[in-house]
Amino acid sequence: MPIEFNEKNGTFVISTPQTSYISAILEDGILAHIHYGGKIARFDFAKDVFKYIPRGFAAEDIPGGSTETIPMEYPTFGCADLRRSALHAVYADSTRTTNLRYASHRIFKGKKPLAGLPSAYVESESEADTLEIDLESRNLRVTLVFCAYREMDVICRSVRIENISSEAAVLKNALSMAFDLPESNYDFVTLEGAWAKERHLSRGALAPNSEKSIGSCRGASSHQQNPFFALCSPDANEKAGEVYAFSFVYSGNFICGAQVDQFATTRAFMGINPFDFEYELKSGEVFQTPEVVCTYSANGFGQASRTLHKLCRTRICRGKWRDAPRPVLINNWEATYFDFDEDKIVEIAREAKQLGVELMVLDDGWFGKRDDDWTSLGDWEAHPRKLPGGVARLAERINALGMKFGLWFEPEMVSPESELYRTHPHWCLHDGDSPRVQTRHQLVLDLSRPEVCEYVYRSVANVLRSANIEYVKWDMNRSMSETSAVTAWRYMLGLYGVMEKLTSEFSNILFEGCSGGGGRFDLGMLYYMPQFWTSDNTDAAERMKIQYGTSFAYPASTMGAHVSAVPNHQVHRVTDISTRGAAAMCGRFGYELDLRLLSDEEKAIVRRQIELYHNIEHTVHHGEMYRLSSPFDSNVTAWEFVDERQAVLFVGNMLAEPNGRFWHIRLEGLEPDALYEAEGKTYRGDVLMNMGLIWEAKCDFYARIFTLRKI
Ligand code: DGJ
Repeated sequence: MPIEFNEKNGTFVISTPQTSYISAILEDGILAHIHYGGKIARFDFAKDVFKYIPRGFAAEDIPGGSTETIPMEYPTFGCADLRRSALHAVYADSTRTTNLRYASHRIFKGKKPLAGLPSAYVESESEADTLEIDLESRNLRVTLVFCAYREMDVICRSVRIENISSEAAVLKNALSMAFDLPESNYDFVTLEGAWAKERHLSRGALAPNSEKSIGSCRGASSHQQNPFFALCSPDANEKAGEVYAFSFVYSGNFICGAQVDQFATTRAFMGINPFDFEYELKSGEVFQTPEVVCTYSANGFGQASRTLHKLCRTRICRGKWRDAPRPVLINNWEATYFDFDEDKIVEIAREAKQLGVELMVLDDGWFGKRDDDWTSLGDWEAHPRKLPGGVARLAERINALGMKFGLWFEPEMVSPESELYRTHPHWCLHDGDSPRVQTRHQLVLDLSRPEVCEYVYRSVANVLRSANIEYVKWDMNRSMSETSAVTAWRYMLGLYGVMEKLTSEFSNILFEGCSGGGGRFDLGMLYYMPQFWTSDNTDAAERMKIQYGTSFAYPASTMGAHVSAVPNHQVHRVTDISTRGAAAMCGRFGYELDLRLLSDEEKAIVRRQIELYHNIEHTVHHGEMYRLSSPFDSNVTAWEFVDERQAVLFVGNMLAEPNGRFWHIRLEGLEPDALYEAEGKTYRGDVLMNMGLIWEAKCDFYARIFTLRKI
């Protein structure tokens, strides 16, 4: 059984194919964390695994011991455990101590959805098993939920907190996870960045008696830090070493980190950011935390990422577009910015169609009076001068070319210069009479309010009903200000509600998320929208880093990636069109330039790129990914996707190396005895894996795709 309870010694053993997670109820009812890591096939004792040892300065709050020296499963504020707590509540009588003790538990097949929140799912009950453990204090019932997949090394965790007292309590902190590992010799790995350089890899050792944590208080998961972290042994690399990886199924403010205590144990934690959080939990009310996805790999980062990819691809992303091939698109943003009209879009589309592009996406500027970014967000009606025949006529003309039509929205925002703002000036986030802080000349609609959610739903749905729209880009271009953490939390619930309604009603539409590029790239968004615009930075060399870093937590199938013009609009770098194509083909492929301006030779390359992409898209989006060489510590970047039919290898370099070395790019995941054919040559799998293909860094910022077809 994947989840077992041993009544004799009060232990819970949760198993996945290669991992075990063990907790135990101690004599006094405290739930202790015993093990997470490599698989333990039989575990029949618990309480002797560690002993209560009296320690100097550790208060004795349990018979003969202290919670400060126990590996806790869900630590709370107010007891002798003075490490970071997972739960901090203030009660009606001003007390703030929560002593949780085991009350009951349930084990059942399957996995339940979380009320109002995105979460990993199952398609049949036999895919996963769930353990719910109820812990109780005077005022609260706290249910720890653990769900283990049978075919994936994934354990999902979340917490329900119910006020069982007769008076309201205030939750100041309610994390989704905090548990103690017995070691501290770990590196802390995160994906940090900024606008146009999202999810760069960062790695550093934990230090004694200190904490490393990251988070966001921006109202979105953010460009700066992604809601993902890993703890790994110092020797961990792509193929070897221990890796614990955690990914949050949530798109708002978060915190996560690792705290090392005086006895060299590490508390790993993740949840809603407690900064400014004060949630009034009424008598009888339940607070549901978002879910954390956990995986452990004894074989390095490669395996941890492949597990997260599979979960995301198959049990986070949903709907028709989860498995279906997605159209190659052209987006007009970098081709025209705000300067377009119906005819110009049709002409760009006509050229694109001739080269093999399947979907024309009209970006920002099609509505209200929007000729620049000062106006009209919230007024979702066609711009009378640019689209005199409305969105419907443009969609018809695009369809008449034999292409699908897609449209950009930024539904969560309002421009002060708009009809919506004139009618409802209080619908935006604001703080009394304080000046309303603008970013990109816009304010954030307050989606914690049901009437605002209803407006957002209705205005988007009306446009979607009015024309043949087969793709939506859902953008979000600023952080939140003038709000409280609880409003930001309710905002996310409101937003998820709107997204659920729209994506189920318009289930044929392919939705792509965006937030000034990848400012909200997380499992929460991917639950509603199966792809996300990875970054506003479309430079191929920068994309090597961004897509490499992103792949630690998210599969290529979720990363929007386009070929854009040169000199590149973000970094002014010139790269050849094949290099740009190679990088973009490792994500959801598209173009973002005026294809009419290309030379005939370049157009022929585009045609071939699209043909190649159709040949490799299944492998890139459904195959296993292996990272082979990192742009963060090498001049050469390489990664590979493998399925039963072929391997697709991406190799690129930064600067050219004069009179340089040969780079042997050694592939992985092939069949040693099988033959693979690439560019007219045949190689054995073991040769490719042990000797590799040779790459020379001959030109600056140069990349190619190699297809190795199994014959
Ligand atoms: C930010 C997005 O990331 C861009 O791709 C583009 O859609 C602009 N917004 C439009 O305002």
